[in-house]
Amino acid sequence: MTNKYMYFIANWKMFGGLSTLNSLTKVIKFLKIFKKSKNTKIIYCPPNTLIHPMFKKIMNSKIQVGAQNCHESLTYGASTGSINSTMLKNVGAKYVILGHSENRESGETDKLINTKIKAATKSGLKVIFCIGETLGQKRKKITNKILLKQITLGLQKVKRRKNIVIAYEPVWSIGTGVIPKSDDLFKTINFIKKKVKNIKVLYGGSVNPKNINELKLIKNIDGFLIGGASQDPKKFIDIIKKTYN
Ligand code: 13P
Repeated sequence: MTNKYMYFIANWKMFGGLSTLNSLTKVIKFLKIFKKSKNTKIIYCPPNTLIHPMFKKIMNSKIQVGAQNCHESLTYGASTGSINSTMLKNVGAKYVILGHSENRESGETDKLINTKIKAATKSGLKVIFCIGETLGQKRKKITNKILLKQITLGLQKVKRRKNIVIAYEPVWSIGTGVIPKSDDLFKTINFIKKKVKNIKVLYGGSVNPKNINELKLIKNIDGFLIGGASQDPKKFIDIIKKTYN
């Protein structure tokens, strides 16, 4: 059981249409009656197509909306298919996920992520900054070295650090059903908190209503970034409830 202030962030990835938003009604109702809701921050990051309709749906509720990525430029420009942080803010986003491993895999460098973090915080968005090692890196026992590189380069010359939370997402844990050993996770989160002062650190990777009982016992975790399980309102509610049980 915890009394801590915890983040529960839903990363819908490439999922959902307009009718999917109906599933939020359950979550909104639940948060109205949930006694610990003051201790929670609930953020949904749907695909860009749903940011504005979701923003309208969650008005007057406890939920806030975020995006899953953005372009690094602060101005409009000739960049087909891109959306910048100012445009996201304009349609209701308060947060943006940056540095997700699925985007790192498709070519995003630490330097680019750093530029995006600076742009996003400048436009007033809060940033969910993702870091994490691959399975190969874990096997080579270079997790801390990789995380330190991602943190150092990603946060270089970033001024507004109070608007940033870090999500530690080991790549080998995303979508696999496998989570780190509690002791390892505690140590890694400690390591991150030592390197970046006064920062909230969340865990992401296969969080579900079963393993939350184990994860919630890890004292230095400030919340969870949830992929697959967040698409199902029942599972998402279950994760929140069990965290406080
Ligand atoms: P899963 O919860 O589906 O493993 O995804 C985690 C994730 O990538 C959240 O950003």
